[in-house]
Amino acid sequence: MTDTTAFRIADLAARREDLRTAEKRAVDRQHAKGKLTARERVELLLDQGSFVELDQFARHRCTEFGMDANRPYGDGVVTGHGTVDGRQICVFSQDFTIFGGSMGEVFGEKVLKVMDLAMTLGCPVVGINDSGGARIQEGVVSLAYYAELGRRNTLASGVIPQISLIMGPCAGGAVYSPAITDFTVMVDETAHMFVTGPDVVHAVSGERVTAQRLGGAAVNSEVSGNAHHRAADEHDAIDWVRTLLGYLPSNNLDAVPEYADETAPELTAADLELDRLVPDSLNQAYDMAEVISRLVDDGDFMEVHSGFAPNMICAFGRIRGRTVGVVANQPRHRAGVIDIDASEKAARFVRFCDAFGIPILTLADVPGYLPGEAQERHGIIRRGAKLIYAYAEATVPKVTVVIRKAYGGGYAVMGSKHLGADVNLAWPTAEIAVMGAEGAVRVLHRHELAALPSERRSAEQRRLTDAYRERHSNPYLAAERGYVDQVIAPSQTRLQVARALHALRTKRQTLPAKKHGNIPL
Ligand code: HXC
Repeated sequence: MTDTTAFRIADLAARREDLRTAEKRAVDRQHAKGKLTARERVELLLDQGSFVELDQFARHRCTEFGMDANRPYGDGVVTGHGTVDGRQICVFSQDFTIFGGSMGEVFGEKVLKVMDLAMTLGCPVVGINDSGGARIQEGVVSLAYYAELGRRNTLASGVIPQISLIMGPCAGGAVYSPAITDFTVMVDETAHMFVTGPDVVHAVSGERVTAQRLGGAAVNSEVSGNAHHRAADEHDAIDWVRTLLGYLPSNNLDAVPEYADETAPELTAADLELDRLVPDSLNQAYDMAEVISRLVDDGDFMEVHSGFAPNMICAFGRIRGRTVGVVANQPRHRAGVIDIDASEKAARFVRFCDAFGIPILTLADVPGYLPGEAQERHGIIRRGAKLIYAYAEATVPKVTVVIRKAYGGGYAVMGSKHLGADVNLAWPTAEIAVMGAEGAVRVLHRHELAALPSERRSAEQRRLTDAYRERHSNPYLAAERGYVDQVIAPSQTRLQVARALHALRTKRQTLPAKKHGNIPL
């Protein structure tokens, strides 16, 4: 009897058993490669027992290349929703054990459906990538779904946070979906991301290169900047994403998650340490992370893109229980100079924060934009402009603290009043000037110094430098003009920044109406 309720329930159980058998096979195949299965990854990401799987029984309809004889349930991708620390997210996870996790029509339908669901719910979407790319047997249909996915990613950009985990191959046009998402995490050794793999590179150019060198986690997180975090293993990657989600609002209309404010309302010993942090010598570096950790709650912050352009720090932290995005020059790397990579890294971070209502705290200690032929040839004008554009366009609360150097273009771009910062503070150690004193004297007094007998030249140069420094290398000329709202003792910074952000909670600013701007790309 096939039409009884008992039979139908038993039939459902049998189909579920097929799924379990496939999962056991997947465990053997993935674990042998040091990888988790698509479902294990989802379970690890979500709160225990919260996963609701969708379209478990979806199957492809392809009849080419003998595909009709092999129609596994799920079609190579696990999709659904669940919670992370109690907050809703949507997820899709490519299953490499079924047709190499390749994207065919039904696979594509499942991914688009869960993305549409994330947009309807207004919750983040996490995509776990482990795939051979477009399903070769399904031809152009696969390509159509990649383009559809790119369109969904684009429409969701700035509406819901989108995060990509790369936990296996991600090649060809398949790389462009993660590239559009907000954050990409790659696992060391097992993950690869490239437009053309080593074989194609060899066929086209004769060049021999390993997959690691071409698109491993190291190169993508440190050189190309495609990845925001290089994870030691899959557990580390998923931990990182869970932590990141804790800082983010669910969508562009929701507020950031708010935690109880347990910060000290008075000066603390850690605050007072800031008064001794900046070295007396201008040329001596210090660690900007030491400043950040003394300003954010519990000294806790999360860097994104930490391996890429380390001369610029981009990090999430909390101030009085609410998320802030911190953008800071790092004097320990290249004296905190802004080069192309630093500009692009910070510009994208500022735009992310702005899209999701996250206030921006800027900490400036910057000698300017990096000079040099290589930078000019690679477009530091066009690519350096992105940071100006991002700051000028951002309407979220913007608070800036000038710590030490703020020279030239570096002063203007690092959250200056002129780009629309709301509250600008400076330490007494701030040097807000067109350039450093030595450089200024070399330009201004070139002729008179050249005319001096050589034995008097260096003493005169020193005298002029000291005079320039005394007059110009301080925060007070900027404060005279209101470019700096307050000059504060370093130890006051945490309390003053917290007050400023509190006051700015009601900030509302609108930009001129337009279809969209045209950021230099
Ligand atoms: C169908 C695929 C597949 C694909 C892998 N498989 N990729 N099936 N379509 N794209 C299948 C394999 O046939 C194999 O099936 C199983 O998955 C595991 O693959 P292996 O090759 O055994 O695994 P491995 O040695 O780990 O190599 C992984 C790989 C390789 C590097 C990803 O499979 C590979 O190069 N695949 C082709 C990649 C590719 O050219 N894709 C198209 C890119 S173009 P069996 O049955 O043997 O287990 C693209 C365009 C997107 O994606 C456009 C966007 C705009």
